[in-house]
Amino acid sequence: GTSIPAGGPPRAHPDIDEILVSRDEIAAKIAELAARVDADYAGREILLVGVLKGAVMVMADLSRALSVPITMEFMAVSSYGSTTSSSGVVRILKDLDRSIEGQDVLVVEDIIDSGLTLSWLLRNLRSRGPASLEVLALFRKPEAITVDVDVRYVGFDIPSAFVVGYGLDYAEHYRTLPFVGTLTPEAIARRA
Ligand code: XMP
Ligand code: MG
Repeated sequence: GTSIPAGGPPRAHPDIDEILVSRDEIAAKIAELAARVDADYAGREILLVGVLKGAVMVMADLSRALSVPITMEFMAVSSYGSTTSSSGVVRILKDLDRSIEGQDVLVVEDIIDSGLTLSWLLRNLRSRGPASLEVLALFRKPEAITVDVDVRYVGFDIPSAFVVGYGLDYAEHYRTLPFVGTLTPEAIARRA
């Protein structure tokens, strides 16, 4: 018969320690969130605001799963501090290309960790006078509860570990992995 290699089952990717959310789970969740958004915004048009770069995969898949008419804009923000944690001091790297005044805005986020970035972003966007302002985040970590941000659509609550895949990066890598998982210590050390 076939021999099973030592060290357990083969890895989905040599740098991935553990898959937390699979490709199928992500696809099912996007479909479920899209159905909720469609129902909530029936008869209206949504301006999706994607937060670069992590939200590109969510944006691409969510926008195509929606039935209500949408337009999209992107914003890039950077929080001062280390690459793996957020300080709450936010700088706009790329602003929206047009006004959002009077529009139904849905912010599309990859992950909410401390919630500081999002809390700043919501204050900033609210000051521009949208008709409504809601948030969809595919992932949320437990710390997000400490900052009071009202996130209407949450995909998955995940543990506090640093994760990559489906848009999420470590040193700009791993964004194209179809699942979300943790990195091996070796992979972290290699790009540290
Ligand atoms: P805060 O703490 O302000 O941070 O909610 C949110 C932003 O931090 C990034 N982030 C991550 N990026 N894996 C990543 O690749 C992670 O586990 C992770 N946690 C937070 C991300 O840019 C998010 O928008
Ligand atoms: Mg990042």
